[in-house]
This record gives sequence, C-alpha cells and structure tokens, in this order.
Amino acid sequence: MSRTVYVNGEYVPEDGAKVSVFDRGFLFADGVYEVTSVLDGKLLEFEGHATRLERSLSELDMASPVTKDELLEIHRELVRRNDLTEGMIYLQITRGAAADRDFAFPDPEETPPTIVLFTQSKNLADSPAAKVGMKVISIDDIRWGRRDIKTVQLLYPSMGKMMAKAAGADDAWMIEDGHVTEGTSNNAYIVKGGKIITRHLGSEILHGITRATVLRFAREAQMEVEERHFTIEEAKEADEAFITSASTFVMPVIAIDGVSLGDGTPGPVAQRLREIYLEESRKAAI
Ligand code: PDD
Repeated sequence: MSRTVYVNGEYVPEDGAKVSVFDRGFLFADGVYEVTSVLDGKLLEFEGHATRLERSLSELDMASPVTKDELLEIHRELVRRNDLTEGMIYLQITRGAAADRDFAFPDPEETPPTIVLFTQSKNLADSPAAKVGMKVISIDDIRWGRRDIKTVQLLYPSMGKMMAKAAGADDAWMIEDGHVTEGTSNNAYIVKGGKIITRHLGSEILHGITRATVLRFAREAQMEVEERHFTIEEAKEADEAFITSASTFVMPVIAIDGVSLGDGTPGPVAQRLREIYLEESRKAAI
C-alpha cells in the first residue's frame, strides 16, 4: 500500500508528492527537520520536537508555515491515514522554491516555505540492536559550527555511517579538539563508576529531545549525571556507553574503535534507562 504523505497543505499518495527542482532544500540544504517517534499509534515528545523546530527556524530567519496546533494535527492525521502503530514521522521545512538559483535568501512574501511530512514504519521498542548493543568508531567532526540547529545538511553524518560500516561497526562518534561531540545522528554518553557523563550543551551538538528526557529520568532515579566533555580515551576506559535519539531511544554501545567496554555486552545503566524511557514515554505519549 502506498503511503500518504503531507506536502504543503495536502495529503497525497507518495508517488504523487512533488517539490520543485528549485527548492532551496534541494539546492542549498536550506532547511530544517525533526523526527518524532510513534509508539502504540501515539506521538512521543511532540512538544519538545515542535519547540526545537521553532528554534531551528528562527535561528535561520525562517517563518513556520504552520502553528504548533496545526503541526500536531498533521502528525496525528498522518498516523491515522497510514495506520502507523510504531515508527517515526519525518518533517522537513525548507526556505521554499525561489524563481532561480540564487545564494541570497528569497523574499519570504514571494517564496513560501516548503513543508513535507511522511511516516516510516519501524520496530523501535523491541529493536534487536538494543539487545546486543552497538559498536562505534571515532571519526573527526568536520561539520559546520551550528550543530544546535537541526538542518538537513546530513552529508557528513551519512559519510560517517558509511565509514563505520566499512570498519565493521554500526555508527561513528565524532571528535573535535580531542573530545567527543556526539554520534552521527544521536547524543553520546559514557558511564564510569555509576556516573553518567555526556557532553554539555552548546553549538557543538544538537540539543537532543531524548537527551533532555533521559537525563531527567536518570536524576529522578537518583543516578549521578555530569554534563561535560570527555575524550575518546576516557570513553574507551568507561564501564559502559550508550547513545540516545528519537529513533533509538537509549541504545547500548559495547565497543569503541574495537575496544570492548566492560564485559562487551549492554551495560546495566543503559538497559535500565532504556526500560525507564520506554515505560515513561509510553505513558506520556499523546
Ligand atoms: N537524529 N545529534 C544528532 C546529530 C542528531 O541527528 C540527533 C537526532 C540527535 C538526537 O536528537 P533527538 O533525541 O532529539 O532525536 C543528536 C535524528 C533521529 C535523525 O537524524 O534521524
């Protein structure tokens, strides 16, 4: 069955969904996105994703073509029309299709933004990867300096995933000035002596919605959290490690650059946080 996707105010079959070749998302990666997960047909952390979207847009001087309430309704309608019980909703807003290719931003009065949303069905809660854990490699972080804005410039993260694959690993952690920034599409954590360590917020990383919630749950469960940067050497000596994102929730990391962490299986802190996250997010889903 063909998916129904949302394009600029209309629900259309995916085969009929079109945007212009002049779209600035296509020509300049001039756009932002969000990924919201769905469990039991309900949205996880909608408020957090919608708020971050507004911030990404405002940092790039773009106006939102929809209100937060309209956005919620579009998400729900896509879940309904596609019968989605578990998976993700991808949303992208670009600066629209100007008359020609021009580096300068077009006048927003003449060029409305392009908004596209579609669903992806995926087994998230019962993910096999969460049971075995994942292996990561380290790579240089050569992305631009405003990683706090969730833009669609994802070429380097894609290359990082390919480098990981070529090395027999699942993903890559990026290193800048000797310190881990984040994973290619997730936030990175290590655990040492029961303490959870993850990079502090700044323009060097995306402010993960899952990160904020997981850290809150960890503190509520009396776990110690330290928000500071850490080196890849420190990570390799950690007791355990994990990543977080909307599409992986909490996912254990069992090896870094071929070095096994702990006994080489998913660690107890990561597993416990995954359980708490799943349980609490299901309850809070809307
Ligand atoms: N990625 N860091 C980066 C670079 C990311 O791309 C993501 C999300 C995160 C985690 O953010 P959140 O917890 O809000 O999902 C951190 C999404 C899932 C993606 O690109 O598919």
